[in-house]
Amino acid sequence: MTRVMQSETSILERYRKFLPLTEKTKIITLGEGFTPLVRARNLARALGREDLKIHLKLEGLNPTGSFKDRGMCMAITRAVEEGSRAVICASTGNTSASAAAFSAQAGLKCFVLLPAGNVAMGKLAQAILYGSTVIQINGNFDRALELVKEIGENYPVTIVNSINPYRLEGQKTGAFEIIESLGDAPDYLAIPVGNAGNITAYFRGFKLWHEEGKSTRIPKMCGFQAAGAAPMVLGRPVENPETIATAIRIGNPASWEFANSAIDESGGMIDAVTDEAILEAYKMVATLEGVFCEPASAASIAGLKKSIEAGRIAEDKTIACILTGNGLKDPKCALEACKQDLDPVEADLKSVIKAMGI
Ligand code: F0G
Repeated sequence: MTRVMQSETSILERYRKFLPLTEKTKIITLGEGFTPLVRARNLARALGREDLKIHLKLEGLNPTGSFKDRGMCMAITRAVEEGSRAVICASTGNTSASAAAFSAQAGLKCFVLLPAGNVAMGKLAQAILYGSTVIQINGNFDRALELVKEIGENYPVTIVNSINPYRLEGQKTGAFEIIESLGDAPDYLAIPVGNAGNITAYFRGFKLWHEEGKSTRIPKMCGFQAAGAAPMVLGRPVENPETIATAIRIGNPASWEFANSAIDESGGMIDAVTDEAILEAYKMVATLEGVFCEPASAASIAGLKKSIEAGRIAEDKTIACILTGNGLKDPKCALEACKQDLDPVEADLKSVIKAMGI
């Protein structure tokens, strides 16, 4: 499935009958969804498992560069329908970029609370440029979300974090697209976990379409957290989460219970991957497949690699890895991860040929 072949501009139109929309709902859209699902043969070979059909869902190609747009178009559409004038969210960066963009189009005021110093530069730039009011707090994401809940209870602003049920409704469409692309659900879904909304949404989407007879199976939901921010793996909240993958630097996920049920019901797993493994996977998917994703997104590849090495992935299976965000959001991470000598050389043929090493 390619993006240009779609006649609908919004996933909300395409999947209208599976979403909480009415005939009268005016859809707010930036052209989200319809992202490519590409086969990663080089990666499968490098992992020593050419039998596996590994696919990458390139969610970084959404309008604001992450999967958040799938849920945000739904949340903002409904906020407008319900007469809201302002929205608010806590964010590690992507939710804020998405909320700010859709609010701009809808003419809503948008407030975003960010953990100061822990948001990738591109995401901060997006939230500012789209015209939201950015408030950086001296605290982490979990604290920001607590504050947002308190503000939502006491002021006339709509919360557009994934505790807003419409967010997860919209995010289910990722599962529908995968089923349409493959002709069935995959055997495994590998997905990074932060606030645990996306894994919950994918499970609901797969389950719904299984019930509708559109697929023969529900994938085993395999969620991966960063080792320094792995509350679900540890079974307790992490007070001071730390990871290079700032998008998933979360110690007390809002959808923890839902995600646990999704994992249990589907026979999946939750595991942790180290920052080193995340960076290795981040480089692998770039150099082997030409895909530049965020460090947090690479947790899905790191998790798949770890699961393969542990012998947990059966033969000949189909796997979809959700690459949740675009690598361009965090260029600093890329430059630091790949140590190349970038010092200029003289602008003459001899020096350039020498630098080419041929
Ligand atoms: N990948 C990326 C790139 C993200 O931005 C996030 C979450 C996740 C994975 C995890 O998804 O929270 O549904 O489990 N980012 C949120 C934000 C927290 O504020 O942008 P999740």
